[in-house]
Amino acid sequence: MACEKPVHLIVAVSRNGMGIGKNGNLPWRLRKDMKYFAEMTSKTKLDSKQNAVIMGRKTWDSIPEKFRPLPNRVNVILSKSLAEKPAGAHHLCTSLEDALNVVSKSSTGDNVESIWIIGGGAVYKEAVNKSLCNRIYLTRVLADFDCDTFFPEFDTKLYQLIVDPEVNGEVQEEKGIEFKYEIYERS
Ligand SMILES: NC(=O)c1ccc[n+]([C@@H]2O[C@H](COP(=O)([O-])OP(=O)(O)OC[C@H]3O[C@@H](n4cnc5c(N)ncnc54)[C@H](OP(=O)(O)O)[C@@H]3O)[C@@H](O)[C@H]2O)c1
Repeated sequence: MACEKPVHLIVAVSRNGMGIGKNGNLPWRLRKDMKYFAEMTSKTKLDSKQNAVIMGRKTWDSIPEKFRPLPNRVNVILSKSLAEKPAGAHHLCTSLEDALNVVSKSSTGDNVESIWIIGGGAVYKEAVNKSLCNRIYLTRVLADFDCDTFFPEFDTKLYQLIVDPEVNGEVQEEKGIEFKYEIYERS
């Protein structure tokens, strides 16, 4: 499933077991990390282009209605159960392969610069197992949280920790919770 455009994945994980969600929501509320997510998934080199975000139906449902679709990005929802695309979404696809095709080819693809896989657990698992992404942007939340959804183990020989001068790799803190941004790149 090779894709002609850069495909990245972005996720925030807890210290214990790489938890990512609880009861359909994020286990924490870190405004700085949400801002980082918005910036990373939105920024493009060319003003004329947008990025695409691909997410599972449950992650779409978890975004408050007033914030959907995620602005300035092509929002692609994965579902096998929905008969039509949810209000506000740009595309509904029945497989990750379909979604990557839609945003890399066709008229939509012409306007898309990078593709971001933004969760949740089911979609991350498929993307990691198939080594689909060039980079994994991983926020390590340096605290334990009760979670029911998890990020899969990934091959750290294939995905190696890199330093990107555009991203602050130091430990940061918000509301007493420490976290840091890491980037893993496929070798
Ligand atoms: N920490 C983070 O960075 C982060 C990021 C995103 C989400 N989350 C959290 O993760 C949790 C949601 O994750 P989740 O695993 O429960 O759900 P999810 O991955 O968001 O959505 C799962 C649903 O997406 C559809 N789907 C997934 N893969 C598909 C495929 N290959 N083809 C077609 N449809 C596909 C199916 O929808 P249908 O059932 O409709 O067929 C499936 O039930 C929430 O708690 C959320 O807050 C955390």
